[in-house]
Amino acid sequence: MMFRVFVVKFLFLTNIYSYELPFSTLGNSIIDANGAVVRMRCVNWPGSMETLMPEGLQHNSIDNIVLIIKQMNMTCVRLTYSIDVTRSSNLTVYQSLSRLNLTFALQGFMNNNPSLINSTVSNLFDTVLDTLGKYNILVLFDNHVSKAMWCCSDFDGNGFWGDRYFDVEQWIDGLKFMANKTIDRPYVIAMSLRNELRGVRQNQPDWYHNVVRGILEAISFVNPRLLIVISGLNYDLNLSFIRSLPVQNLVPISIRKKIVYEAHWYSWSYYGLLSDCNHVKVSIENAWGFILESNYSYTAPVWLTEFGTNVDQFQGDDEFIDCVKGFLQTPLTQTMSWSYWVLAGSYYIRSGTAESHESFGLLTDDWKNIKSKAFINILLTL
Ligand SMILES: *[C@@H]1O[C@H](CO)[C@@H](O)[C@H](O)[C@H]1NC(C)=O
Ligand SMILES: *[C@@H]1O[C@H](CO)[C@@H](O)[C@H](O)[C@H]1NC(C)=O
Ligand SMILES: *[C@@H]1O[C@H](CO)[C@@H](O)[C@H](O)[C@H]1NC(C)=O
Ligand SMILES: *[C@@H]1O[C@H](CO)[C@@H](O)[C@H](O)[C@H]1NC(C)=O
Ligand SMILES: *[C@@H]1O[C@H](CO)[C@@H](O)[C@H](O)[C@H]1NC(C)=O
Ligand SMILES: *[C@@H]1O[C@H](CO)[C@@H](O)[C@H](O)[C@H]1NC(C)=O
Ligand SMILES: *[C@@H]1O[C@H](CO)[C@@H](O)[C@H](O)[C@H]1NC(C)=O
Repeated sequence: MMFRVFVVKFLFLTNIYSYELPFSTLGNSIIDANGAVVRMRCVNWPGSMETLMPEGLQHNSIDNIVLIIKQMNMTCVRLTYSIDVTRSSNLTVYQSLSRLNLTFALQGFMNNNPSLINSTVSNLFDTVLDTLGKYNILVLFDNHVSKAMWCCSDFDGNGFWGDRYFDVEQWIDGLKFMANKTIDRPYVIAMSLRNELRGVRQNQPDWYHNVVRGILEAISFVNPRLLIVISGLNYDLNLSFIRSLPVQNLVPISIRKKIVYEAHWYSWSYYGLLSDCNHVKVSIENAWGFILESNYSYTAPVWLTEFGTNVDQFQGDDEFIDCVKGFLQTPLTQTMSWSYWVLAGSYYIRSGTAESHESFGLLTDDWKNIKSKAFINILLTL
């Protein structure tokens, strides 16, 4: 299946080329069906909070939002969803916004996406996926939480299998429900098992057990062409334990070339003080950077699926982004895909506040403009 993605390569001559689907892995890189290395530059589009809907649609049409993503020269979106949406999939947009008393969002949605107001929340995800595909944007479909809400804390009941809201069987069923959506959408190239595993219940035996279940019973089972993106422990900051037992050893050979690990990085992550970027890089090497080293049984791509900073305060230079940039430009890391947190804008509702502002967002609150073109230009040099 041929699918063209036009990639503008900065730092080098401007090139236009296309990728052939599906993707798989070779060493520490994601490659296309012809063996060409694929480095995706993505933005997170949240859709895992209380409304059960992708954010921003009260402010702008789906087409316009995707066009802005194109304008930003991003090649991919990490689209987040909750397991709750797979269990209330027949709820309509109208019902969802009404039951939360989000009257501003309801009116705005009717103005900006009028034809979708009676669509179910599940079909709304279908339309967002279809529109991303229409504009040649690749998608990593991310199970962010079980109970739809802002993520993440140690005590939100969403952190690890067996937590109050994180039922294992509901999770398997939810992954299958969403994996089904990827079958006829080849531009959805990857699904994650679960974002930011964490909390007092986290432990390695359950991690291995459920990671393998999610792969064999849900993602690979429904759609074997997908890359499978796997989070470590401690909020996706630590995969050090896979050095002695890589997931690749626990799955059939046909699946090994679909295994991609993911990692997160914020200024407050425990890798160390930003003022000592070299020390941070050493911590990251021990926590997950080692996975990129060639020819080990654990060698695989690592996708930096979240990193972000306060764009409101950006004035041409950001210590955190500088450190990330240095990290991403070494021989080992130069093919790493990344995904900036976050596209929003503002949220329908976040932690009880309607029309909540997002300081890390690439878009203005009204989802119509790029907040800082200078910031986007720096991102595109990563
Ligand atoms: C995206 O790439 C095009 C073509 O190189 C360029 O003209 C445009 O300024 C870029 N957009 C941003 C936001 O950097
Ligand atoms: C959604 O509706 C269909 C058809 O009415 C029904 O078969 C299905 O069980 C419903 N799903 C949920 C999650 O309620
Ligand atoms: C919505 O408003 C109704 C009537 O004012 C109230 O009973 C209900 O608790 C509100 N629901 C939420 C989720 O705020
Ligand atoms: C949505 O449903 C309402 C009530 O059933 C109806 O009046 C309205 O025309 C519908 N809108 C669309 C766009 O289907
Ligand atoms: C899978 O998706 C198809 C439509 O693409 C739908 O008809 C079918 O019911 C779905 N199956 C499940 C298990 O969700
Ligand atoms: C990661 O986890 C391991 C063992 O579980 C621990 O020894 C280590 O300190 C943690 N942090 C880093 C940065 O590796
Ligand atoms: C990895 O192994 C291959 C095949 O044995 C070899 O050609 C290559 O040089 C090795 N790479 C490194 C970095 O050791």
